[in-house]
Amino acid sequence: MIAKTSTAVLAALALTSAASAQAPSAKPWMNPKLSPDERAALLDKKLTLDERIGLLHGPMAIAWGKNKLPEGALGSAGFIPGLARLGIPALQETDASLGIANPGDVRPGDGATALPSGLALAATFDPKLAFEGGAMIGGEARDKGFNVLLAGGANLARDPRNGRNFEYLGEDPWLAGVMAGEAIRGVQSRKVISTLKHFSLNGQETGRTMANSVIEEGAHRESDLLAFQIAAEKGQPGSVMCAYNLVNGDYSCGNPHLLNDVLKRDWGYKGWVMSDWGAVHATDYVLKGLDQQSGEQLDGTTWFGAPLKVAVEKGEVPAARVSDATRRILRSMFAVGLFDDPQVKREIDYAANAKIAGKVARDGIVLLKNEGGLLPLVKNAKTIAVIGGYADQGVLSGGGSSQVVPPGHKGAKIALGGEGMMAAWRSMQFHSAGPIGSTPLAAIRKLGGNGQVRFDDGRYVASAVELAKGADVVVIFANQWMGEGEDAPDLSLPNGQDALIAAVAAANPKTVVVLQTGGPVAMPWLNAVGAVLEAWYAGADGGEAIADVLFGEVDAAGRLPVTFPVSIDQYPRVAAPGRGLGPKERFDVVYSEGSDVGYRRFAATGAKPLFPFGHGLSYTRFAYANLKVAGGDSLTVSFDVTNTGGRVGKDAPQVYLVDRGGKPVQRLIGFERVSLAPGETRRVTLTADPRLLASFDPVAKAWRIAPGDYAVAVGASSADLSLKGAAKVRARSLKP
Ligand code: BGC
Repeated sequence: MIAKTSTAVLAALALTSAASAQAPSAKPWMNPKLSPDERAALLDKKLTLDERIGLLHGPMAIAWGKNKLPEGALGSAGFIPGLARLGIPALQETDASLGIANPGDVRPGDGATALPSGLALAATFDPKLAFEGGAMIGGEARDKGFNVLLAGGANLARDPRNGRNFEYLGEDPWLAGVMAGEAIRGVQSRKVISTLKHFSLNGQETGRTMANSVIEEGAHRESDLLAFQIAAEKGQPGSVMCAYNLVNGDYSCGNPHLLNDVLKRDWGYKGWVMSDWGAVHATDYVLKGLDQQSGEQLDGTTWFGAPLKVAVEKGEVPAARVSDATRRILRSMFAVGLFDDPQVKREIDYAANAKIAGKVARDGIVLLKNEGGLLPLVKNAKTIAVIGGYADQGVLSGGGSSQVVPPGHKGAKIALGGEGMMAAWRSMQFHSAGPIGSTPLAAIRKLGGNGQVRFDDGRYVASAVELAKGADVVVIFANQWMGEGEDAPDLSLPNGQDALIAAVAAANPKTVVVLQTGGPVAMPWLNAVGAVLEAWYAGADGGEAIADVLFGEVDAAGRLPVTFPVSIDQYPRVAAPGRGLGPKERFDVVYSEGSDVGYRRFAATGAKPLFPFGHGLSYTRFAYANLKVAGGDSLTVSFDVTNTGGRVGKDAPQVYLVDRGGKPVQRLIGFERVSLAPGETRRVTLTADPRLLASFDPVAKAWRIAPGDYAVAVGASSADLSLKGAAKVRARSLKP
């Protein structure tokens, strides 16, 4: 389906093009030969204080209550008016990492292509797909008239119950950092600014504006901050979004250590810091590193508006700091191309874009268990029972600001209700009938044969069991809807689905469970079922992708970017912090595990997870051999990976640091996505980012590598390590 760009978009585009068409000599900042810094400095000099302040705050771009859609806004998350006098385009900001959102249908009927969830993307272990997905949604943003995409979520999954894990990229700083960086690069390759968010330690949704994340400095630098640092280096995001929560006592958006010391000083970040929506509590945040107040209606006070001007006039905020904040915004606009390549009208080829989403889905679906080769399904099975999970409606998606609605609003939307500010967001949106997408049930029918596939919606255990009994094989879908603003209370599947699966598996052990979850869930029925596929939220082409993996049209290629625990007792915070507290009660979330997030802590405690980080079965087999480890300033690891099975397949061999100078550790230091024909061998060579070998010394403010023998292991997951080797690494100290 091809959509026409709206009139509002065209009006905005016309303004931008007219502005940039003026003579470059009158506007020296329009000289593309100058650096973005030079151009931003030239332009900033022309602005009055009021004009600068105008760029430092903006409203939500939706109509709600007595708030009208701001003039000139296309309608979405946010809007910063431009300046026609000097040809500065407005910032038209939209969510998010998984596609272009349309909150409250503010742009009537304007759907978009949904990428699979962030965890599905991370499960591909394929930075090229992260780039491609980013470029796709960046392209859609641009073609709709948006120039800032609030994408780039890189918080580590420290708690499997976190309601936004699905938007992020798992529990490992290297994997999350690389994938976020590539996704951001992809977005910005379409001349649309991407953010990197939510900086930092926005590790749970429960009481997210009252939660004080407590962590030691070194541990923070080696974990969540490292993911952000890598993503910032690789992606060069135009903007970083600070978070709702506090970090070590200061709100993230008013946290001088995080924003001024770490981000801007230590990392030399040149873009701007925008607030999360409703995360600003005072004007002096500008002195603490915040450059722009977003979604200002949610704060009640436009702190970065009139009060900022008063503060400048009183000398409380230096005018130079206001200029600095302004230059940072303009610099990113120049660096990403907002001035030089104004948007032009373009129709969107949703069918082509859905195919990109489909590639991510196919490569990110993880085959967790496959007893006796139950999968792939044979095409001539007599009867396939498909049960539950709204498999006749589409594939599930996650809720909140990242919610994408398919083009033409096709796909069922089932309200969950509830109370409070997020209640309106709480609905299960299914992606089903996009330009090439169909429901999982229809896609299974296409491959399994129309007559053979029977469906039961799973509401009644008795009828599901009856159908399962008479079938050759059962495919049961189980859903866990997750959304912004709330965490799961535990790791169960809601609405009695655990009991349904147990009953169905008892009736027919040839049961395949397809999970559509926001993150890890417990599986009390695991021993009774034959196979388990984790399909995450599979996006625009998800139905076909699930069917293709079930029937082996493609290899099962995903690998877990998060540990699946046996139970929540294996995590440091069994009782969820903040649960049951009033909305104004402050509480601490003590990250006592430090940088031992996920599999690292499992390695440290010796606990056995249900499925380890990095795990994922294939329909073929892979073997690793001929390991070579070279030391020096870092570690360079090379080895052969061979497809020893009978069909084409995809692997993601992983390299872990397992010992530093006699002290056991576990850290992913490299991975590579390979696609191999049967019998084919590929030599993989990876050099570790030295920070992955180091410890962060908070006193010296430096990464320190102690000299000694560093041992590595290569394997198919964090718990399946087949090759081991070691080399000597020199002592080093690296800047923060
Ligand atoms: C979310 C951000 C989002 C913003 C704008 C906030 O509630 O935390 O991720 O970008 O809203 O929609």
